[in-house]
Amino acid sequence: KGMFTYDPGFVSTASCESQITYIDGGKGVLLHRGYPIEQLAEHSDYLETCYLLLYGELPNKEQKEAFVDTVTNHTMVHEQLVHFFNGFRRDSHPMAIMCGVVGALSAFYHDSLDISDEHSRQVAAFRLIAKMPTIAAMSYKFSIGQPFMYPDNNMSYAENFLHMMFGVPCEKSNISPVLANAMDKIFLLHADHEQNASTSTVRLAGSSGANPFACIAAGIAALWGPSHGGANEAVLNMLEEIGDESRIDEFVARAKDKSDPFRLMGFGHRVYKNFDPRAKVMKQAADEVLAELGLEDDPLLKIAKRLEQIALEDPYFVEKKLYPNVDFYSGIILKAIGIPTSMFTVIFAVGRTIGWIAHWHEMISGSYRIGRPRQLYTGHDKRDFVSLDDR
Ligand code: CMC
Repeated sequence: KGMFTYDPGFVSTASCESQITYIDGGKGVLLHRGYPIEQLAEHSDYLETCYLLLYGELPNKEQKEAFVDTVTNHTMVHEQLVHFFNGFRRDSHPMAIMCGVVGALSAFYHDSLDISDEHSRQVAAFRLIAKMPTIAAMSYKFSIGQPFMYPDNNMSYAENFLHMMFGVPCEKSNISPVLANAMDKIFLLHADHEQNASTSTVRLAGSSGANPFACIAAGIAALWGPSHGGANEAVLNMLEEIGDESRIDEFVARAKDKSDPFRLMGFGHRVYKNFDPRAKVMKQAADEVLAELGLEDDPLLKIAKRLEQIALEDPYFVEKKLYPNVDFYSGIILKAIGIPTSMFTVIFAVGRTIGWIAHWHEMISGSYRIGRPRQLYTGHDKRDFVSLDDR
């Protein structure tokens, strides 16, 4: 029917050209602007990777310093935003708060709404990169009834985030460098992943000319689902539900049962039919953090290790190429750092913000058309209206 290609789930449709990220899912390759993710994770840091994604090249020393300085200048949020938080229930999911508050930035920063002006677009990018950790930490502080922490601009990006999450105004924050490093790596490994559901959402929203804050809020909403960014939270919930190593087989059997909708959270990927290179780096980081904190014997983490082993050996998972994905390991690290489960997806959103902005910026700076997918209509043929009395 019709003259369009029908491709539910966009498994074989490219929606745009892009120079930002390359993935070869069969080979397990992920490159940002040509650089392998493994090399970036080892030698770079989150803000430098942000620069790379946004501008296309690694910065030299002066460029890096200037970029970090500019982003750092924007870490505070408008004081009026505090009132916005106070309108939410204390038990709101932090992702619900993120959707609202980030969208509301367009009501506060009128000088970065002009998408036709390059300077305005740049300032919007700096603001979003800088303010996401502040808003994320505020959504957590609000939920536990503690005062909001102002950012400390003497700290690194990741350190500052942990300071705003776990610090209190009456004490000096003491952030462990190991945890700050792990946090930075989590942000870096989530920075971009080409046309995933949330990035495609940001592009689609942006293609109508919507302002960048509104577009990123749309991305946050798309990220929330358990098949996408919500998976890291779902992994931990699943580990808690399993609860004991003796029950693992039961859950694995359910995952394999076609009549049971249950899936092992944190396994499988639409694009990677091989080990996700980010998951490899994350696995190593997880091992380091657990050893550093002496948590190798944590019962949930033991269940996780056993599940990982089963998935890598069990014929069902091997044949379907369902490898542990990045969310599987990031969930474990975040749990070890002491981040509450409800914040996991928020942290994914903080890291992914640069990817959303880089794609939005690439689209807006080039030639683009409004995104307007077609459909395969499967409803009624034309028919005549029936009056209420005759129905
Ligand atoms: N547990 C058990 N079986 C699975 C799983 C799983 N986690 N994932 C896929 N399968 C099976 C699925 O039942 C199907 O079997 P069959 O061919 O016999 O019908 C086959 O594997 C292919 O699955 P699919 O649903 O066609 O694959 P997809 O590309 O549409 O979905 C996915 C990819 C990631 C949504 C899916 O693997 C999944 O639901 N995984 C669990 C959730 C998760 O960890 N998501 C995070 C993804 S990575 C980070 C991100 O993108 O945000």
